[in-house]
Amino acid sequence: MIVPFKLERELPAPIYRQLYQRFRDAIAQGRLRPGARVPAVRALAAELNLARGTVDAAYQLLIGEGYLIARGAAGTFVTAQLLSDCTPLPQLRAPIASTMYHACHCGTPPLALQIGLPALDAFPRKLWTRLAGRELRQAGVEGLIYPDSRGYAPLRTAIAAYLGISRGISCHPDQVFVCAGYRACLDLISHTLMRRGDTCWLEEPGFFMARNALMEAGAQLIPVPVDDQGLDVEQGIARAPQASFAVVTPTHQSPLGVSLSLPRRLALLDWANRQGSWIIEDDYDSEYRYQGKPLPALKSLDQQGRVLYAGTFSKVLFPGLRLAYLVVPAEQSQTFARQADRLHNHCPHLLQATIATFLDEGHFARHLKKMRSLYAQRRQWLIDALHQRLGDRLHIDLQAGGMHLVAALGEGDDVEFARRARAVGIAVEPLSTWYVQANPRQGLVLGFTNIASAGQASTVALQLAQLL
Ligand SMILES: Cc1ncc(COP(=O)(O)O)c(C=O)c1O
Repeated sequence: MIVPFKLERELPAPIYRQLYQRFRDAIAQGRLRPGARVPAVRALAAELNLARGTVDAAYQLLIGEGYLIARGAAGTFVTAQLLSDCTPLPQLRAPIASTMYHACHCGTPPLALQIGLPALDAFPRKLWTRLAGRELRQAGVEGLIYPDSRGYAPLRTAIAAYLGISRGISCHPDQVFVCAGYRACLDLISHTLMRRGDTCWLEEPGFFMARNALMEAGAQLIPVPVDDQGLDVEQGIARAPQASFAVVTPTHQSPLGVSLSLPRRLALLDWANRQGSWIIEDDYDSEYRYQGKPLPALKSLDQQGRVLYAGTFSKVLFPGLRLAYLVVPAEQSQTFARQADRLHNHCPHLLQATIATFLDEGHFARHLKKMRSLYAQRRQWLIDALHQRLGDRLHIDLQAGGMHLVAALGEGDDVEFARRARAVGIAVEPLSTWYVQANPRQGLVLGFTNIASAGQASTVALQLAQLL
């Protein structure tokens, strides 16, 4: 049982946040053990004299971050595998990265420099509305019934064509699965190919959502360091040679932005081929590159069908769609199709049909082209403003692509700095929270996609300078 909760109405944090923090502390300090059942929302609300919605909001946050897991009528439990119990590994910290991230995806309007969002002011809403209206009118009975759990066939065909041309991936539409976001792609993979206890390499630093999804699937997570050539494959092999999975962001490593070098790509594929392991390639924002040629996907080098490729419409269209896609090796299509059906992996027909038309009629290619030059401009505005206002107090580690900048902080604590920035409406993210091991790098992750003018960049940079 959690310690009695005293309302602290004077504290700036809302009550649900305080309650959430209590649970986090109780879990971190071992007072709530992995697997322990937590009180039902109704019971706890009555006990603490809080509204049920307050307790529910705290639980949802804890569930979203992987601390708790809801098992329907059976109740809500502390996640069984918060930490890896692989003995040779360094101790993992609890996934605090998710704390900082959660605020990015809680449905509130975006803050300045918020990462992970495309330029919301530049989305062609009129065109989209026209296409969606047409699809709605023409949908017929197909638009009213349960959609295909693998995804809408014309969209799968359009995705396969797009990937062939733009990402060098040769696949049949049968290999493409449309899912409700990257997390749903990971869930489909874990339900289809993963067994509890399977070992999985994860990039260190790496994306919290992949970590949480795989942890909840019962995987043993092995952090593998990332350097200026991307994931250190040799280190992965040294730490867990027989891992069943490796999750990588080869085009723009999340969050550092570096690309996986060709020798490392080949080494990773060679390892997976020899071991019969699976590589999950998360290609979330590869479309945006500002220097040099676009890099082909890792999947394009995959001769033996070991790569499961995930892409998303969140960055190239908008995240409110909640649509992503997974490409599986041809031999696995049937197995994945069975699981997609079992999991009821149905995504809304209208949205899928609208995207299919957007792709087929060439709007997508035009939109991407426009966004590439817009982002190059917005990125430069932010770089110039940061240089001007902060000088060498912030060192930008400039990469060839992506949707955010990573900057090393000369001094100070990045978590504390991000907290103060957020208080004035700036959503810089602390780099250290992407790490699970001790001694993380300190820095800031800054989104530039919604910087609307050089003037705005300058104002935000000045605010940051004042905070520093
Ligand atoms: C590293 C990474 N992968 C994938 C995604 C895509 O997630 P989704 O499709 O759920 O929006 C994101 C979005 O922020 C991301 O940062």
